[in-house]
Amino acid sequence: NYPPGMGEIEGVALLKGVCDVWDTVYNFQARDGDIVVASYPKSGTTWMQEILDLIVQDGDVEKSQRALGFIKVPFLEMGHTSLEVANTMPTPRVLKTHLPIQLMPPSFWEKDVKMVYIARNPKDCMVSYYYFYKMDQTLPDPETWDNFFSTFLKGSLAWGDWFDHVTGWWKARDEHKILYIFYEDMIEDSRRELCKVMRFLGKDFSEDVVKKILHHTSFKAMKANPMINFSVFSESIFDQSVSSFMRKGTVGDWKNHFLVSQNIIFDNEYKKKMEGSGLEFRTEV
Ligand code: A3P
Repeated sequence: NYPPGMGEIEGVALLKGVCDVWDTVYNFQARDGDIVVASYPKSGTTWMQEILDLIVQDGDVEKSQRALGFIKVPFLEMGHTSLEVANTMPTPRVLKTHLPIQLMPPSFWEKDVKMVYIARNPKDCMVSYYYFYKMDQTLPDPETWDNFFSTFLKGSLAWGDWFDHVTGWWKARDEHKILYIFYEDMIEDSRRELCKVMRFLGKDFSEDVVKKILHHTSFKAMKANPMINFSVFSESIFDQSVSSFMRKGTVGDWKNHFLVSQNIIFDNEYKKKMEGSGLEFRTEV
Protein backbone atom coordinates (compact mmCIF):
# COMPACT_ATOMS: atom_id res chain seq x y z
CA ASN A 1 0.00 0.00 0.00
CA TYR A 2 2.43 2.58 -1.27
CA PRO A 3 1.35 5.75 -3.04
CA PRO A 4 1.72 5.82 -6.84
CA GLY A 5 5.33 6.08 -7.93
CA MET A 6 6.61 3.90 -5.07
CA GLY A 7 7.39 0.19 -4.83
CA GLU A 8 9.68 -2.04 -2.81
CA ILE A 9 12.63 -4.39 -3.14
CA GLU A 10 13.11 -6.95 -0.38
CA GLY A 11 10.79 -4.99 1.86
CA VAL A 12 12.60 -1.67 1.35
CA ALA A 13 10.47 1.20 0.01
CA LEU A 14 11.98 2.58 -3.18
CA LEU A 15 10.92 4.74 -6.08
CA LYS A 16 9.11 2.72 -8.71
CA GLY A 17 11.74 3.94 -11.19
CA VAL A 18 14.43 2.26 -9.08
CA CYS A 19 12.45 -1.00 -8.78
CA ASP A 20 12.03 -1.04 -12.57
CA VAL A 21 15.80 -1.04 -13.20
CA TRP A 22 16.70 -3.10 -10.14
CA ASP A 23 18.47 -5.94 -12.00
CA THR A 24 20.79 -3.49 -13.74
CA VAL A 25 21.51 -1.72 -10.47
CA TYR A 26 22.15 -4.89 -8.49
CA ASN A 27 24.44 -6.31 -11.16
CA PHE A 28 26.51 -3.15 -11.47
CA GLN A 29 30.22 -3.92 -11.68
CA ALA A 30 32.34 -1.98 -9.24
CA ARG A 31 36.00 -1.41 -10.08
CA ASP A 32 39.13 -1.42 -7.96
CA GLY A 33 39.66 2.11 -6.72
CA ASP A 34 35.99 3.16 -6.78
CA ILE A 35 34.89 5.39 -3.91
CA VAL A 36 31.29 5.40 -2.72
CA VAL A 37 29.35 8.03 -0.81
CA ALA A 38 26.42 6.30 0.89
CA SER A 39 23.65 7.78 3.03
CA TYR A 40 20.01 7.91 3.90
CA PRO A 41 18.56 10.78 1.80
CA LYS A 42 19.07 14.33 3.11
CA SER A 43 22.01 13.50 5.34
CA GLY A 44 24.67 15.59 3.61
CA THR A 45 25.33 13.35 0.61
CA THR A 46 25.94 16.22 -1.80
CA TRP A 47 28.30 17.87 0.69
CA MET A 48 30.32 14.67 1.07
CA GLN A 49 30.24 14.00 -2.66
CA GLU A 50 31.90 17.36 -3.39
CA ILE A 51 34.50 16.72 -0.69
CA LEU A 52 35.30 13.29 -2.11
CA ASP A 53 35.58 14.56 -5.66
CA LEU A 54 37.86 17.41 -4.62
CA ILE A 55 40.06 14.99 -2.69
CA VAL A 56 40.27 12.69 -5.72
CA GLN A 57 41.14 15.73 -7.89
CA ASP A 58 43.85 16.75 -5.37
CA GLY A 59 41.97 19.96 -4.56
CA ASP A 60 41.87 21.15 -8.18
CA VAL A 61 38.60 23.11 -8.20
CA GLU A 62 38.55 23.58 -11.99
CA LYS A 63 38.90 19.86 -12.53
CA SER A 64 36.22 19.15 -9.97
CA GLN A 65 33.92 21.50 -11.90
CA ARG A 66 34.39 19.43 -15.08
CA ALA A 67 30.73 18.38 -15.00
CA LEU A 68 27.55 18.98 -13.07
CA GLY A 69 27.59 17.32 -9.66
CA PHE A 70 24.96 14.71 -10.45
CA ILE A 71 26.81 13.73 -13.65
CA LYS A 72 30.38 13.55 -12.31
CA VAL A 73 29.11 11.46 -9.37
CA PRO A 74 26.68 8.91 -10.83
CA PHE A 75 23.72 7.90 -8.69
CA LEU A 76 23.82 4.12 -8.62
CA GLU A 77 20.16 3.27 -8.33
CA MET A 78 19.05 5.65 -11.07
CA GLY A 79 19.83 2.85 -13.50
CA HIS A 80 20.81 2.83 -17.14
CA THR A 81 21.72 6.41 -18.01
CA SER A 82 23.58 6.98 -14.81
CA LEU A 83 25.39 3.63 -14.98
CA GLU A 84 26.35 4.10 -18.62
CA VAL A 85 28.04 7.35 -17.59
CA ALA A 86 29.74 5.48 -14.74
CA ASN A 87 31.01 2.81 -17.11
CA THR A 88 32.76 5.37 -19.30
CA MET A 89 34.37 7.25 -16.40
CA PRO A 90 38.09 6.96 -15.64
CA THR A 91 39.20 5.37 -12.36
CA PRO A 92 38.95 6.42 -9.56
CA ARG A 93 35.23 7.04 -9.77
CA VAL A 94 33.11 8.57 -7.02
CA LEU A 95 29.66 6.94 -6.95
CA LYS A 96 26.62 7.87 -4.90
CA THR A 97 23.99 5.63 -3.34
CA HIS A 98 21.16 5.80 -0.83
CA LEU A 99 20.78 2.03 -0.66
CA PRO A 100 20.56 0.30 2.70
CA ILE A 101 23.59 -1.92 3.11
CA GLN A 102 21.79 -5.22 2.44
CA LEU A 103 20.83 -4.02 -1.05
CA MET A 104 24.33 -2.94 -2.13
CA PRO A 105 25.40 -4.63 -5.38
CA PRO A 106 27.71 -7.51 -4.35
CA SER A 107 30.54 -6.40 -6.65
CA PHE A 108 31.30 -3.56 -4.21
CA TRP A 109 32.17 -6.13 -1.55
CA GLU A 110 34.09 -8.29 -4.01
CA LYS A 111 36.26 -5.28 -4.96
CA ASP A 112 36.59 -4.19 -1.32
CA VAL A 113 35.63 -0.65 -2.32
CA LYS A 114 36.14 2.26 0.10
CA MET A 115 32.87 3.82 1.21
CA VAL A 116 32.10 6.92 3.19
CA TYR A 117 28.75 6.72 4.96
CA ILE A 118 27.33 10.05 6.03
CA ALA A 119 24.66 9.98 8.74
CA ARG A 120 22.54 12.81 10.13
CA ASN A 121 20.36 12.97 13.22
CA PRO A 122 16.90 11.71 12.30
CA LYS A 123 14.99 14.80 13.39
CA ASP A 124 16.82 17.21 11.10
CA CYS A 125 16.98 14.53 8.42
CA MET A 126 13.19 14.18 8.57
CA VAL A 127 12.62 17.93 8.29
CA SER A 128 15.02 18.20 5.37
CA TYR A 129 13.35 15.23 3.67
CA TYR A 130 9.91 16.80 4.17
CA TYR A 131 10.96 19.91 2.25
CA PHE A 132 12.61 17.74 -0.36
CA TYR A 133 9.44 15.68 -0.81
CA LYS A 134 7.55 18.93 -1.35
CA MET A 135 9.95 20.33 -3.93
CA ASP A 136 10.82 17.10 -5.80
CA GLN A 137 7.90 16.74 -8.19
CA THR A 138 8.78 13.10 -8.90
CA LEU A 139 8.08 12.10 -5.26
CA PRO A 140 4.59 11.55 -3.85
CA ASP A 141 2.94 14.57 -2.25
CA PRO A 142 3.88 14.46 1.46
CA GLU A 143 0.56 16.11 2.34
CA THR A 144 0.85 17.37 5.90
CA TRP A 145 3.89 17.43 8.16
CA ASP A 146 1.97 15.19 10.56
CA ASN A 147 1.40 12.65 7.82
CA PHE A 148 5.05 12.79 6.77
CA PHE A 149 6.16 12.30 10.38
CA SER A 150 4.09 9.08 10.61
CA THR A 151 5.36 7.78 7.25
CA PHE A 152 8.96 8.36 8.36
CA LEU A 153 8.35 6.36 11.55
CA LYS A 154 6.69 3.58 9.57
CA GLY A 155 9.82 3.37 7.42
CA SER A 156 7.79 3.84 4.25
CA LEU A 157 9.55 6.85 2.74
CA ALA A 158 11.72 6.39 -0.33
CA TRP A 159 14.83 4.36 0.60
CA GLY A 160 13.09 2.83 3.54
CA ASP A 161 13.52 2.90 7.26
CA TRP A 162 16.02 5.42 8.66
CA PHE A 163 16.74 3.26 11.75
CA ASP A 164 17.58 0.16 9.70
CA HIS A 165 19.66 2.25 7.31
CA VAL A 166 21.97 3.91 9.83
CA THR A 167 22.35 0.83 12.03
CA GLY A 168 22.93 -1.51 9.08
CA TRP A 169 25.86 0.53 7.78
CA TRP A 170 27.14 1.08 11.33
CA LYS A 171 27.31 -2.66 12.08
CA ALA A 172 29.22 -3.38 8.88
CA ARG A 173 31.83 -0.65 9.28
CA ASP A 174 34.61 -2.81 10.73
CA GLU A 175 34.05 -5.73 8.41
CA HIS A 176 34.39 -3.53 5.29
CA LYS A 177 36.24 -0.37 4.29
CA ILE A 178 33.54 1.94 5.59
CA LEU A 179 34.24 5.35 7.11
CA TYR A 180 31.23 6.46 9.14
CA ILE A 181 30.87 10.24 9.36
CA PHE A 182 28.25 12.36 11.11
CA TYR A 183 26.75 15.50 9.59
CA GLU A 184 26.75 17.18 13.01
CA ASP A 185 30.51 16.56 13.34
CA MET A 186 31.06 18.18 9.96
CA ILE A 187 29.04 21.22 11.02
CA GLU A 188 31.00 21.38 14.28
CA ASP A 189 34.45 21.05 12.73
CA SER A 190 34.55 20.61 8.98
CA ARG A 191 38.37 20.67 8.90
CA ARG A 192 38.69 17.80 11.37
CA GLU A 193 36.20 15.68 9.43
CA LEU A 194 37.78 16.55 6.07
CA CYS A 195 41.14 15.38 7.43
CA LYS A 196 39.55 12.07 8.51
CA VAL A 197 38.24 11.53 4.99
CA MET A 198 41.63 12.48 3.47
CA ARG A 199 43.43 9.98 5.70
CA PHE A 200 40.89 7.28 4.82
CA LEU A 201 41.66 7.86 1.14
CA GLY A 202 45.40 7.95 1.77
CA LYS A 203 45.79 11.64 0.90
CA ASP A 204 47.71 14.37 2.62
CA PHE A 205 47.42 17.95 1.36
CA SER A 206 49.10 21.25 2.13
CA GLU A 207 47.30 23.82 4.25
CA ASP A 208 46.47 25.79 1.09
CA VAL A 209 44.71 22.84 -0.53
CA VAL A 210 42.82 21.98 2.67
CA LYS A 211 41.64 25.60 2.86
CA LYS A 212 40.57 25.54 -0.77
CA ILE A 213 38.52 22.37 -0.29
CA LEU A 214 36.88 23.76 2.84
CA HIS A 215 36.04 26.99 1.10
CA HIS A 216 34.61 25.32 -1.97
CA THR A 217 32.47 22.93 0.10
CA SER A 218 31.10 25.52 2.53
CA PHE A 219 27.31 25.81 2.55
CA LYS A 220 27.48 29.33 1.14
CA ALA A 221 29.77 28.39 -1.75
CA MET A 222 27.80 25.25 -2.60
CA LYS A 223 24.47 27.08 -2.49
CA ALA A 224 25.81 29.67 -4.92
CA ASN A 225 27.39 27.12 -7.26
CA PRO A 226 25.18 26.26 -10.25
CA MET A 227 27.30 23.15 -10.90
CA ILE A 228 26.14 21.79 -7.54
CA ASN A 229 22.88 23.46 -6.46
CA PHE A 230 20.62 21.71 -9.01
CA SER A 231 19.46 25.03 -10.47
CA VAL A 232 19.82 23.41 -13.91
CA PHE A 233 16.96 21.02 -13.10
CA SER A 234 13.65 22.12 -14.57
CA GLU A 235 10.89 23.21 -12.20
CA SER A 236 8.93 20.17 -13.29
CA ILE A 237 11.53 18.03 -11.47
CA PHE A 238 12.88 20.17 -8.62
CA ASP A 239 10.62 23.11 -7.88
CA GLN A 240 13.07 25.24 -5.94
CA SER A 241 10.48 27.99 -5.55
CA VAL A 242 8.91 25.59 -3.03
CA SER A 243 12.22 24.93 -1.23
CA SER A 244 15.89 25.17 -2.23
CA PHE A 245 18.00 22.06 -2.53
CA MET A 246 20.60 23.86 -0.38
CA ARG A 247 17.97 24.83 2.13
CA LYS A 248 19.45 25.73 5.55
CA GLY A 249 22.44 23.50 6.22
CA THR A 250 22.13 23.64 10.01
CA VAL A 251 21.66 21.41 13.04
CA GLY A 252 18.50 21.89 15.10
CA ASP A 253 15.93 23.07 12.56
CA TRP A 254 13.73 20.21 13.83
CA LYS A 255 12.87 22.42 16.81
CA ASN A 256 10.94 24.66 14.42
CA HIS A 257 8.86 21.73 13.17
CA PHE A 258 8.40 19.01 15.79
CA LEU A 259 5.36 19.46 18.02
CA VAL A 260 6.01 18.69 21.68
CA SER A 261 3.80 15.60 21.33
CA GLN A 262 5.68 14.43 18.22
CA ASN A 263 8.97 14.86 20.00
CA ILE A 264 7.83 12.57 22.81
CA ILE A 265 6.61 9.93 20.37
CA PHE A 266 9.83 10.20 18.40
CA ASP A 267 12.13 9.95 21.42
CA ASN A 268 10.32 6.80 22.57
CA GLU A 269 10.64 5.14 19.18
CA TYR A 270 14.27 6.20 18.92
CA LYS A 271 15.06 4.65 22.28
CA LYS A 272 13.40 1.36 21.36
CA LYS A 273 14.98 1.07 17.94
CA MET A 274 18.49 2.33 18.72
CA GLU A 275 19.00 0.64 22.08
CA GLY A 276 22.16 -1.44 22.13
CA SER A 277 23.26 -0.24 18.68
CA GLY A 278 26.19 1.73 20.12
CA LEU A 279 25.25 4.48 17.70
CA GLU A 280 24.59 7.97 19.03
CA PHE A 281 23.28 11.07 17.31
CA ARG A 282 23.39 14.67 18.39
CA THR A 283 20.36 16.82 17.69
CA GLU A 284 22.25 20.01 18.49
CA VAL A 285 25.87 21.14 18.36
P1 A3P B 1 18.73 21.08 4.86
O1 A3P B 1 17.50 20.73 4.06
O2 A3P B 1 18.52 20.83 6.33
O3 A3P B 1 19.24 22.44 4.60
P2 A3P B 1 21.60 15.47 0.69
O4 A3P B 1 22.71 16.02 -0.10
O5 A3P B 1 21.88 14.17 1.33
O6 A3P B 1 20.32 15.48 -0.10
O7 A3P B 1 21.38 16.43 1.94
C1 A3P B 1 20.87 17.73 1.78
C2 A3P B 1 21.02 18.49 3.08
O8 A3P B 1 22.42 18.78 3.29
C3 A3P B 1 20.29 19.82 3.06
O9 A3P B 1 19.89 20.05 4.41
C4 A3P B 1 21.40 20.75 2.60
O10 A3P B 1 21.17 22.10 2.87
C5 A3P B 1 22.58 20.19 3.41
N1 A3P B 1 23.87 20.62 2.87
C6 A3P B 1 24.33 20.52 1.61
N2 A3P B 1 25.55 21.05 1.50
C7 A3P B 1 25.90 21.48 2.72
C8 A3P B 1 27.07 22.13 3.25
N3 A3P B 1 28.10 22.44 2.48
N4 A3P B 1 27.07 22.44 4.57
C9 A3P B 1 26.01 22.13 5.35
N5 A3P B 1 24.89 21.53 4.91
C10 A3P B 1 24.83 21.20 3.61
